[in-house]
Amino acid sequence: MSILVTGGLGYIGSHTVVELINHNFDVIIVDDLSNSEKFILDNIEEITGKRPIFYPFDLRRKELLKQVFDAHDIEGCINFAASKAVGESMVKPLDYYENNLFSLINVLQEFKERNISNFIFSSSCTVYGQADQMPIDENTPLKEPESTYGKTKSFGEDILKDFSKAYNKRVSLLRYFNPIGAHPSALLGELPIGIPNNLVPYVMQTAAGIREKLSVWGDDYPTEDGTAVRDYIYVVDLAKAHVAALQKLIHSDEETVLDIYNLGTGKGSSVLEVVKAFELANDVAVPYQICPRREGDITIAYANADKAEKELNWKAETTLEEALKTTWEWQKYLKDRNN
Ligand code: UFG
Repeated sequence: MSILVTGGLGYIGSHTVVELINHNFDVIIVDDLSNSEKFILDNIEEITGKRPIFYPFDLRRKELLKQVFDAHDIEGCINFAASKAVGESMVKPLDYYENNLFSLINVLQEFKERNISNFIFSSSCTVYGQADQMPIDENTPLKEPESTYGKTKSFGEDILKDFSKAYNKRVSLLRYFNPIGAHPSALLGELPIGIPNNLVPYVMQTAAGIREKLSVWGDDYPTEDGTAVRDYIYVVDLAKAHVAALQKLIHSDEETVLDIYNLGTGKGSSVLEVVKAFELANDVAVPYQICPRREGDITIAYANADKAEKELNWKAETTLEEALKTTWEWQKYLKDRNN
C-alpha cells in the first residue's frame, strides 16, 4: 500500500515525504517541478536511504494520473500540489483556480471511482482572515480570504467537506500557520524563486547579502512593537503532523471522517522579533528599514493547536531560534551548491 504525495518535491511536501518514509510508508510523488527541483528527490534518498517513486507531470493531465492509480495500490493521499504566491494569484486568478482546484478534483475523482479513502488537504490559516480573537482555534469563524490564493484554500476545504459527506470518505484539513526552517541535514528547504515574498526567506537572503535590506512592512500595528505578529512553525514539526493525521485516518473505525486541525506553535512573534531571533541564532546582521504596511496583510494570527495535541498527540517542539538556525544552514548549502 502506498501514499500518493502530490507536490512531494516542494517545501512542505519534501519534508513530509521524509517523515512518511521514516514511518515505513511507501511514497509515490507526483510533482510537475513548477516550483521545485529534481535534486530534492536525490536529497530525500540521501536522508532516508530510500528513493520514492516519482512522476513528473501536472495533475491536470487526467490520463497520466489514471495510469499512476492503475500502477499502484494507493491507500491515501497528501495533497500539496498548488501554486502559492499570494501576489501572483491576484493578477492570474484563473490560473490559480484552474491549477489548484482542477488538480485537486482530478485526484478526488480517482479516489471516488476506486473506492479509496484517507485524504489530507494542505489548508492555511488564511481561511480565518483577521480573526477577532486570539488565539485562533478551529471554531473561530471563517472569513473570506482576500487573495485568490487564499480563496483556492477555502474552496478546496468546501470541496473536501462535500466529498467526505457525499462519498463517505475520511478527510483531514490541515490549516498551517507560517511554516519556516529547513531539514536538519540542510538537504531540504524552501527554494527561493525570484524575490521572496515571505519573511523568513527574505531575512535569509538579506543576511547572505543577496538582498540589501529587509523591508519591514509596517510598524504602526496595534502590537507590542508595532510590527505584525504571526505563528511561525518549524517545517519538520509540521511534516510530522501530516503523518499523525494520516495515521489517524487510516486507523479510524469510522467510514466517514472530517478532521480539521490548526497547526501552529501557539505563540505569536512579531516581524522584528523574527529579525532579532535570526541575528542572535546565527550571529549575522539583518539590515532592515521600516516601510508602509503591505496591502492585504493582517495584524495578528497565532494558533490554538490544542485539538491537534489532544487528538493527534502532536505538538510543535522546535523553538523559533532553532528553526531559524536550520534556515541559515540551508542558505549555506544552497550557496555551496551554486558554486
Ligand atoms: N514581512 C515583512 N517583510 C517582508 C516579508 C514579510 O515585513 O519582506 C512581514 C509581513 O508583512 C507579515 C509577516 O512578515 O507581517 C509575515 O509575512 P509572510 O509573507 O511571511 O507570511 P504571511 O503571514 O503574509 O503569509 C502567510 C502564508 C501565505 C498565506 C497568508 C495568509 O505564507 O501562504 O499567510 O495570510 F496566504
